[in-house]
Amino acid sequence: MWQWLRRLLGWKESSRRDDVVLEAEKMPQHVAIIMDGNGRWANKRGLPRTRGHQKGMERLREIVAASCKYGLKTLTLYAFSTENWQRPREEVDFLMSLPQVYLERELPELKGNNVRVRFLGRTGELPLATRRALEIARQETAGNSGLVLNIAINYGGRMEILDAVRGIAKKVQEGELDPEEITEDTIANHLYTADLADPDLLIRTGGEARLSNFLLWQGAYTELWFTPVLWPDFDEEVFKRALAAYQARERRFGRIPGQNR
Ligand code: FPP
Repeated sequence: MWQWLRRLLGWKESSRRDDVVLEAEKMPQHVAIIMDGNGRWANKRGLPRTRGHQKGMERLREIVAASCKYGLKTLTLYAFSTENWQRPREEVDFLMSLPQVYLERELPELKGNNVRVRFLGRTGELPLATRRALEIARQETAGNSGLVLNIAINYGGRMEILDAVRGIAKKVQEGELDPEEITEDTIANHLYTADLADPDLLIRTGGEARLSNFLLWQGAYTELWFTPVLWPDFDEEVFKRALAAYQARERRFGRIPGQNR
């Protein structure tokens, strides 16, 4: 009854949002999200899992817009892992169609918001129609200078490190690189994220508390935030809570409390 009355008066959303105050100077630069819980969201409603993924895709608009509004530099989304190919064929086909649907639908707004879209993963192994949609979005937003929206698709953290090692080994073999000169930076510069800062905050929805092969190298000092909220229910209010939790943490990078970097 109260909830109904509050909603009628427009209180619920606005008052809860006002509870969380974010500090612009403490905003993370790079946020990564494992968007988990689509299947369970659908199951709870007696719907096919694909409906959960559809709803999950629709969530992106609000979260990408909020990321622009809060001035984030980079948002990295885990859309499809190298392990996801093992799902039933129908679900894989549906997931493969989503980037195309999303990019065709959202490209004008992404361009309007000065977003640069990029992709992480072995994109060369994706179906042709998906690859085409990715390439169009990449090209059409390449000149934008706002939020970098990284979509990880056919992505695996171990495979990314493997690809980097192969690239480095090739340079050694060709005499371009001395093994003694290989540093952490050499490895970082051969990852899919070569020119990006490491994520400051990693959010995982859906109640599980694991990395699932996401950004393994880059996540060495990333702050982790887990929520039971299922991805299709993850709205700006929950996003704000994650950002506020990040702002309340002290990042020490191996140092002692109060020691500056
Ligand atoms: C995990 O939930 C989610 C995925 C494997 C897919 C995520 C994809 C989207 C949210 C759409 C993204 C689209 C674009 C264009 C980026 P799950 O299926 O494992 O859920 P469950 O754990 O409840 O079964």
